[in-house]
Amino acid sequence: MDNQAANLKAVTHINNVRLAEDGKSVVIIDQTKLPNTTEYLTLKTAEDFYDAILDLKVRGAPAIGICAAYGIAVLASQIGTDDFGEFLKEFRKYKDYLNSSRPTAVNLSWALNRMERTVLDHGGKPVEQIKAALLNESRSIQEEDMQMCRAISEYGLSLIKDGDGILTHCNAGPLATSRYGTALGPLFLGKERGMNFHVFADETRPLLQGARLTSYELYKGGIDVTLICDNMAGIVMKNGWVQACLVGCDRIAANGDAANKIGTSVVAVLANYYKIPFYVLGPTSTIDMNCPTGDDIEIELRSPDEIRTKFYAEPMALKGVSCYNPAFDVTPAGLITAIVTEHGIARAPYEKSLKEIFRKKERDALHD
Ligand code: MRU
Repeated sequence: MDNQAANLKAVTHINNVRLAEDGKSVVIIDQTKLPNTTEYLTLKTAEDFYDAILDLKVRGAPAIGICAAYGIAVLASQIGTDDFGEFLKEFRKYKDYLNSSRPTAVNLSWALNRMERTVLDHGGKPVEQIKAALLNESRSIQEEDMQMCRAISEYGLSLIKDGDGILTHCNAGPLATSRYGTALGPLFLGKERGMNFHVFADETRPLLQGARLTSYELYKGGIDVTLICDNMAGIVMKNGWVQACLVGCDRIAANGDAANKIGTSVVAVLANYYKIPFYVLGPTSTIDMNCPTGDDIEIELRSPDEIRTKFYAEPMALKGVSCYNPAFDVTPAGLITAIVTEHGIARAPYEKSLKEIFRKKERDALHD
């Protein structure tokens, strides 16, 4: 393998969340320290997991779900009772606590509900057996995520061409998932196959996931990347440098409205104006069919200090100035050209096409 291929593999296969060999802790890359320092953190207690998710040490919808699944498996292994009822009560306390760490990415509750189902499916079995089943289930969630990202990357790649200029917002790469990523997956897969793209990465105020993580991943992977401030997306589109926008998602409603990092809807409006296709890429675990529209998605509000002081040597606004800091916004379905999942590409009307994606998922499961 030549150097370039090795660098690309190192990025696409980065081990951002993993269960320790003995199943007693979870090791993550502290994403708040990137790109300057690669520091690993070992998480063992409920507070460790809660804080790591809340503080975005682990972030990106799929990675949050994986970390929570591993986390609850580790916490369950610490519950000291042989009584199933007692065990379930303690398990649910941990589940509710972890679930309250961040509200918008549905992958968190999706993964925790799946773990709870594992407990209930094993009701009446010895508690030790249930603990082992939980560890296995959490490993499956990560393995499936790897396959999902790979499939999304293939479908996404079918929508772009060699040489295209691509604009992306926030970070939906390998650090946000397990392997390849969602929105960045097609770019890495294309690169592996000898294709070249020119990527504009929005820096993504206020937490700079685009600058700190997306430009890091693409640059390390040998993909041509230009970092821009969020308010420069319009000029690069006007200049004709962008042929497609690829973004991730944190929760897609049944009508196709998609919540993603704050500022995503601004990119979608611009793309619509300049007639550039705007694609949302995410696994079916990010589609919430119980959520009818984007208005039903809870938007996380974060500390004003992320706007006022974070990353600055001194405050950039007076202490008394009020700040509004929503972490996500919702892109209306009408601005989305297609939603790319691991089971295919959905297009408007999304009420119908998303249901069809889930029917295909069931059919695909029967053939596995
Ligand atoms: O607040 P973050 O960094 O967790 O927000 C992440 C995003 O908005 C991503 O685009 C989304 O989770 C998709 S990750 C594959």
